[in-house]
Amino acid sequence: MTQMLLSTAVACATVAAVAAAVMVWQKFHKHSHCDQALVLLYEFRHACATPLYVLRHISEHVALEMQAGLNQPGGSQLMMLPTFIEKLPNGCEKGLFYALDLSGTNFRVLRCLLGGPNARVIKQEYEVVAIPRALLLGTSEELFDFIAQRLISFIKLEGPEFQRGHNWNGHQIRELGLTISFPICQTSHNTGILIKWTEGFKIADGVGKDVVAMLQSAMDRQKGFQIRVAVLINDTVGTMAGGHYWNDDVMVGVILGTNTNACYVECNLPEDIQTKSGKMVIYMEWGRFWSSHLPRTYIDEQLDNESVNPGDRGFEKMTGAMYLGEIVRRVLARMAQEANLFGDSVPTKLKQPFILLTLEMSKMHADESPDLRIVDKVLKDVFDIKRTELSERRIVHSVCDTVTMRAARLAAAFIVGILKKIGRDGWDATGVSSRLMALPRDSEHRARLELKRTVVAMDGILYEHYHRFRIYMQAAVYELLSEAAARKLVIELSKDGSGTGASILAACHSEFAPSYS
Ligand code: BGC
Repeated sequence: MTQMLLSTAVACATVAAVAAAVMVWQKFHKHSHCDQALVLLYEFRHACATPLYVLRHISEHVALEMQAGLNQPGGSQLMMLPTFIEKLPNGCEKGLFYALDLSGTNFRVLRCLLGGPNARVIKQEYEVVAIPRALLLGTSEELFDFIAQRLISFIKLEGPEFQRGHNWNGHQIRELGLTISFPICQTSHNTGILIKWTEGFKIADGVGKDVVAMLQSAMDRQKGFQIRVAVLINDTVGTMAGGHYWNDDVMVGVILGTNTNACYVECNLPEDIQTKSGKMVIYMEWGRFWSSHLPRTYIDEQLDNESVNPGDRGFEKMTGAMYLGEIVRRVLARMAQEANLFGDSVPTKLKQPFILLTLEMSKMHADESPDLRIVDKVLKDVFDIKRTELSERRIVHSVCDTVTMRAARLAAAFIVGILKKIGRDGWDATGVSSRLMALPRDSEHRARLELKRTVVAMDGILYEHYHRFRIYMQAAVYELLSEAAARKLVIELSKDGSGTGASILAACHSEFAPSYS
C-alpha cells in the first residue's frame, strides 16, 4: 500500500515536474534572453537524470564494491574499514562518560550521564574549543597537549550530579569515546594508526603513530586526572551507536551532511578479521565511490578539476552539503555567461567559488511564494543581484531542485546498496529477502527474521534540515525496494553521533562499569 502510494506520489511529482517545465517554457517563450538559459537548464536536467534503472545499477555496484573491499583491503574504491566494534549499546548503560570529537579546526568535549533503561540520558554538557592556528602547523605533541589541557579544564567543571554518576566500583578513572575525522587505520576498538593529517592540519609528525597513544600520553602528562580512551570511532559509528541505544534493529549508520559516509554491521567477515560474535561494524568511506553509472555532468567535472583533491571523493562531490550550493552557483554562472541570465554581464559575486551555501540554496528551493520572493532575496543577499524577473527566479529554483533531487536519489541508491549487501533489500517478487530465502520456510529463525525491521540511523544537515532532500531520498528508497522490504525499513534521525553516540559507545566498552549485556 505504502509502496503504491509512494509510486503514485512519485508519478504525480514527475507529471507535475513536466507540467511545470512546460509552464515555465510557455512563460518564458516571450522572453528571448531566457530561452537560451532554458535550453541549458533542460540539458543540465537531462544530464542529472536518475531513472530507476540507473539507481538499480548503482545499488548493485555499491554492493559489489563493498564485498570487494572486504575481500581485499584496498581492493575497492570503498575503504571498508574494520572498527573491531562488535558490541553496540542497548540502553542499559549507566554512569558518567566523556566524548572528544576532533573533526576539524575546532574540537568538542562532552560529558554525558547515563541512567540505564528507565532514566537514559540524564544530563549532558559540552564545550567547543577552537584550535589556535599555530598548533595546526606545529607538532603532534603540542596539539595533543593543548587538547588534553582543555579536556582537563572541562573535567574540572564537572558538577556534583555528574560526580555521583561516575563513581562506579570506587574507581576514579574517567572513560571517553574519541571521534576522529582524519583517516585512521584501526588496529583494535581503541587503537588506530594515523594515515594522514587532513582538515587544515599541517603537522610534521604523527603519521604512522597510534592516535590514542598520542592523546593518552598527553593526558598522562596533565597530572591529577586519570582518563582512559574506551573507544576510537568514526562519526558514522557514533551515529549508529546512538541509534542502537534506542533501537536494537539499527544495522546501518549514515551521515548526509557537509560530507557523507556510512557504516553497517557486517555478519560475513573475511577470515582475517574475526570477532567472537562473528559480527563487526565496518565503515565504508562511501564519499570516495565513483562509478560510470553516476550521472556526472560537465559542471561536476569542472568542480572536481578545480578542487584540492581532483579525481577523489566523486560521490561526496555530488551529494555533500559542502558542494550542492557550489554546483548550483556554477550552473547559474554558466547560464549568466552563455545566456545572459541576470543581464548583460555576469554578476561579479556569481563568479566567486563556494559563495552560495547549501543552506541558502535550500531556502530558495523551499520557496513556495507565487513570485518566488525568497529566491529574489537570496539572489540579492548572496550575489548582489539587485533585480530579477520571475522567469529568471523560476530557472534558479529549478536548478536547485535538479541538484538536490540527484543528490537525494543517489544517496537512496547507496543506502539500498548496503541493504542489498546485508540481504535486507528483498528484491524478489514476493518481497522476501535473499537472506531469508536461504533459510527453511518453516524455521523459527526465519519466522523471527521475517518480523524484524531494518533501521537506518541517520544524521547530517541534509537529512535533518533540507526538507525536500529528505522527501526525495525517502521516495527513491521506496521506489527501489519491494513493498515488503520497504515496509520493514525505517530511517530514524540519530543526532550527534560524534558526541553523545561516542560517549554511549564508551559506556558500552567500559572497563569499570558493570557489564550491560
Ligand atoms: C570523512 C568521513 C566522515 C564523513 C562524515 C568524510 O569527509 O572522510 O570519515 O565520516 O565525512 O562526517
